[in-house]
Amino acid sequence: MTEEISLLKHANKEEIYKALLPQIKALLSGEEDLVANMANMAAVLKEAFGYFWIGFYLVKKGELVLGPFQGPVACTRIQKGKGVCGKAWETGETQLVPDVNAFPGHIACSAASKSEIVVPVLKGNELIAVLDIDSDQLNTFDGVDQKYLEEMVCYF
Ligand code: SME
Repeated sequence: MTEEISLLKHANKEEIYKALLPQIKALLSGEEDLVANMANMAAVLKEAFGYFWIGFYLVKKGELVLGPFQGPVACTRIQKGKGVCGKAWETGETQLVPDVNAFPGHIACSAASKSEIVVPVLKGNELIAVLDIDSDQLNTFDGVDQKYLEEMVCYF
């Protein structure tokens, strides 16, 4: 089976997300394994946007544990309330961080990371994971990313 994602070149961020959503939905619909689907979603986002680090942390035995990702080696475990990921887990809300150095308690897996967005992944009412995206530029993420990424993680 060939899984091809067609990427829009020279489009703005919103146009890229709009083109990606149905493709990601289709890509995930044939597979029920969460890790496989997270791996493919991270790969598509990496290919489409080229962000520095894109990946998932899964809730396991009271901690966030590193899951499928694209990018450099990262921290493996994060406690509830710690860092941007732990805050998203604790609050159940997306965290938009324009400057990671201004975020109290930010966990620096890499000094190259400058801004970040973390989106909760819910199964029913239960938070089962977070999607974490890091950029090597300041102010990369905004409400457009939040809107489409929150929609995307509903496909799991
Ligand atoms: N910066 C995150 C840690 C995970 S890495 O960015 C991959 C945080 O503060 O939770």
